[in-house]
Amino acid sequence: MCGIVTAVASQDVVPVLIEGLRKLEYRGYDSAGLAVLNGGLRRVRSTGRVAELAEAAAEVHAPVGIAHTRWATHGAPSERNAHPHVSGGLAVVHNGIIENFESIRARLSAAGYVFESETDTEAIAHLIQSKLREAGSLFEAVRLATAELTGAYAIGVLHETEPECAVVARRGSPLLLGIGEHGVYAASDTAALLQVTRNIVYLEDGDIAELTREDVRITDSAGQPVERATHVSSLSADAVELGIYRHYMQKEIFEQPQALANTLEIIGGGGLPIPQLFGADGPAVLGGVRQVLILACGTSYHSGLVARYWLESIAGIPCTVEIASEYRYRSSVPDPATLVIAISQSGETADTLAALKHATLLGMTRTLAICNVPESAIVREAALRFITRAGPEIGVASTKAFTTQLAALAVLTLTLARMSGHIAEDVEARHLAGLRHLPVAVQKVLELEPQIEQWAQRFAMKHHALFLGRGRHWPIAMEGALKLKEISYIHAEAYAAGELKHGPLALVDEDMPVIAVAPADELLEKLKSNLQEVRARGGELYVFADAGSEIPETDGVHILHMPEHYGMLSPVLHVIPLQLLSYHAALVKGTDVDKPRNLAKSVTVE
Ligand code: G6P
Repeated sequence: MCGIVTAVASQDVVPVLIEGLRKLEYRGYDSAGLAVLNGGLRRVRSTGRVAELAEAAAEVHAPVGIAHTRWATHGAPSERNAHPHVSGGLAVVHNGIIENFESIRARLSAAGYVFESETDTEAIAHLIQSKLREAGSLFEAVRLATAELTGAYAIGVLHETEPECAVVARRGSPLLLGIGEHGVYAASDTAALLQVTRNIVYLEDGDIAELTREDVRITDSAGQPVERATHVSSLSADAVELGIYRHYMQKEIFEQPQALANTLEIIGGGGLPIPQLFGADGPAVLGGVRQVLILACGTSYHSGLVARYWLESIAGIPCTVEIASEYRYRSSVPDPATLVIAISQSGETADTLAALKHATLLGMTRTLAICNVPESAIVREAALRFITRAGPEIGVASTKAFTTQLAALAVLTLTLARMSGHIAEDVEARHLAGLRHLPVAVQKVLELEPQIEQWAQRFAMKHHALFLGRGRHWPIAMEGALKLKEISYIHAEAYAAGELKHGPLALVDEDMPVIAVAPADELLEKLKSNLQEVRARGGELYVFADAGSEIPETDGVHILHMPEHYGMLSPVLHVIPLQLLSYHAALVKGTDVDKPRNLAKSVTVE
């Protein structure tokens, strides 16, 4: 969702701004723009892709600039609503949502400011402008103005009267600084800045920073100077390149063996090294946990749903899983002995962050973030962290982040099971061996791609699809349906197979492909009966079975056998063919696989 890049350097920053926006494209956007200072303010905006903005700005050169990709919230995607927004000689780019923008707008309109867009951001531009005289400097004007904003923001600001600096500020939305050899930069994430530096400074909520060519000054919201440490990013520039792949989603699906191996490296080759897994406070926070509450959105929510089965059956700990956006607004009954887990690939999702804060405010301070971005807001909010090491995930539809979340949750399950004495040594050893073998097992599943591709050809032109699963594979069916919706725009729904006869069976006919996740587990016989119900109504079945699932391939029943049955960790394997299926269906349909319409990778607004 909206991406920001700011640069102040000793050379032309326009190429840096454009390349930075390219690296932020994955976050999702529908228009782009930039503003620079070079003897005056110059603004260029475009409703197309960053490539079009680059063309439009080909003749623009300057040492100071701000740039933005916009994912529309207030007002349609149009050039008029694209950032930067200006007020006199001042320009602003913004990521987030200003909740009190209407009252600010009304007040400033009455004072004579003219609004040209429907955005909340334009209110910030005029508000800062209105503070300039009283403030005496752009920095102070930004500080005074941001004190009046409610909601979330990361902003970059320029003003003609201070042609050698840019001011940035954040609260709720991500923003980090890059200290480079030729200048100082700011961006929504590290990937945008690797082109110029690896020296990264993470701003805290309420921070305001003034960037000049050789220096950066940071204060808190009260104007007190603050020190923020510089981290050297270990992210490799290659990790965000496409390489031999056609799409990031394809690359990320095929990176899963490595991503899992990297994530699981922490468990080593012996027993579970519990003190190392969740940081020094891990044993204290996890000890005496009576129940688990998982908060997450989208694909991360599905990993939580799988974990519920693991936590209850293996660790004997009651677990509830809630959609973060629902949890944060409902009255619930807190129990301080609850371990609250926020799962998020980005660590930025506004609803998950707010739900985590809400749980903490209710007195549940045993919190854990399972996240793929080490310095993200959600990680910093939680008492404990488990960082998945999937590497940057660029495709909007989450794949390797999901399977590495599952790996992390499996490690957590075994940890809690051991700490509560709920697991026998040999059972734990068996599960650990399964975890260590996962990368190899996933690799074998990836080899099924040619057959899955054929299936995708057959049902890509359908308008609807039904996904069925049972037990810990029901969330996998949900994830399969979500993937298909996200990137191929085929309407898909997932049901616990036992629910079929309570409604969705009415939809089944020859036009409704039914995809079943059918591992050789304790629920297989039940699932087979559910599949009979589909076949009897003429529904065409696509069944992902295990080697030992023994479902006969007949007319209208297509079977794909997974290489092995994988017990507890089977959901990690069974999601892979569903990822491939939606990827290939999207290819057939010709959709924008990595940047599906209307969606964003990091959802930093409610
Ligand atoms: C967006 C993404 C999804 C993701 C969800 C939650 O909707 O498109 O892929 O699952 O956000 O994101 P998170 O970063 O919290 O896992």
